[in-house]
Amino acid sequence: MSRLRLGVLISGSGSNLQAIIDASERGELDADIAVVISNRQDAFGLERAQRHGIAGRWIDPASFGSAAEYNAAVRDELLAAEVDHVVMAGYMKLLGTEVLDAFPMRVLNLHPALLPSFPGAHGIADALAYGVKVTGVTVHFADAEFDRGPIIAQQAVEVCEDDTEESLAARIHEAEHRIYPYAIQLIARGRITIEGRRVRVSPEA
Ligand code: GRF
Repeated sequence: MSRLRLGVLISGSGSNLQAIIDASERGELDADIAVVISNRQDAFGLERAQRHGIAGRWIDPASFGSAAEYNAAVRDELLAAEVDHVVMAGYMKLLGTEVLDAFPMRVLNLHPALLPSFPGAHGIADALAYGVKVTGVTVHFADAEFDRGPIIAQQAVEVCEDDTEESLAARIHEAEHRIYPYAIQLIARGRITIEGRRVRVSPEA
């Protein structure tokens, strides 16, 4: 089976980008990263890409007249890199229809809570403040609304009595680093079918 070509969108540390790179290098993921795009120049993920010989691009939203023009530039970079799927890994901007329409049901997002609970930019803090005993992580296809598209995979993470936002975040990130490569591998192996909101996963051939 041929390998997936991924474009990864980041805004910050890129620890999930690193997990994908590591899984690919270990031979556990039938996918290669063709390009990493950041909306922030200081995103550490760009340095991670460089260390692994992966093309990294900073596309500055401030240098475009509108969000649509910025998103068109992101789309053009992804198309130039000939990626099959787009993976958002800590990308803290709403992805425009320019990109979504170019990659229908081929854009993945990772969220640090069990969607549809605690969507938005503070999923970990919101779950802790609400007092849930179980939270977790979600990988889903992205659509034009934040944190809403069909769910590919989820994993629960227990909230402990003495958790702080930092300690809970550490366990959430561990779960993310496992589940994101796993979900991408499901796609790489052709194990996913989308039926409306339901994403069906077929058994390993
Ligand atoms: C992750 O917690 C992800 O769920 C959220 O942003 C964080 C990104 O972390 N969307 P990193 O940049 O991959 O380290």
